[in-house]
Amino acid sequence: MITAKGFIDQIYLDERRAARLSCPPDLRPGPGQYLLASTRSNPAVPLALPVYTTGNYPGGFYVAAPLPNGANWLPGTALDLRGPLGRGFNLPAQARKVALAAPVGNGTRVLALLEPALAQNASVVMCCDQPPADLPAALEILPAAALLEITIWADYLACQVPREHLPGLLNLLTPERSNMYPAGRPSSTNSIAPRSNSAQVLVETPVPCAGLADCGVCAVSLRPGRDFKLACKDGPVFDIY
Ligand code: FES
Repeated sequence: MITAKGFIDQIYLDERRAARLSCPPDLRPGPGQYLLASTRSNPAVPLALPVYTTGNYPGGFYVAAPLPNGANWLPGTALDLRGPLGRGFNLPAQARKVALAAPVGNGTRVLALLEPALAQNASVVMCCDQPPADLPAALEILPAAALLEITIWADYLACQVPREHLPGLLNLLTPERSNMYPAGRPSSTNSIAPRSNSAQVLVETPVPCAGLADCGVCAVSLRPGRDFKLACKDGPVFDIY
């Protein structure tokens, strides 16, 4: 983990990018990871706030919208940064059919995978009912209801959901939970299920201590009867299969 100073270069009124944050290159979070940022210039806001990336730029990264609650940052705001923290997405180098999904919300965090996927010549589809405006034409947008069908096409799936919607997503995508394919998924398709490392989910949840105090606020249950995981350090990205 690295600590360093960073600066808010720019604030956007943008559905995908909340801000441009300059920082040392080795501090930039990977897709799905986060940094803790605290405001040196405003001791009235002592808590460090988590920020996620929605894409890199040469001097730092774009903070995924929205800004965290309590971040009254302006261009020029100096930040103390710590990270990168957490487990991020692991886009397989051989993936050529990449599906991004945000069944709830607009998926700004999962969109951090867009440029890396395009850079490895993958076709990229996003299942989302409220995608941010001004996405590249190379990204095909489908409704969230197409998610299950798109898993038959994709060779890698990355999802983003609020924690309260995780059970619903797992019910949809996990064959043993779903009654959609009672005899199992068609083996002749390219379905990602149930190959390991082929589908991941970023769980959106508060991370007030970021693992420092084991507060448990970020606990996540991925399977009934299994141990809880801590999104702040075991995640926030988890394997679905
Ligand atoms: S945020 Fe406290 S244990 Fe995860």
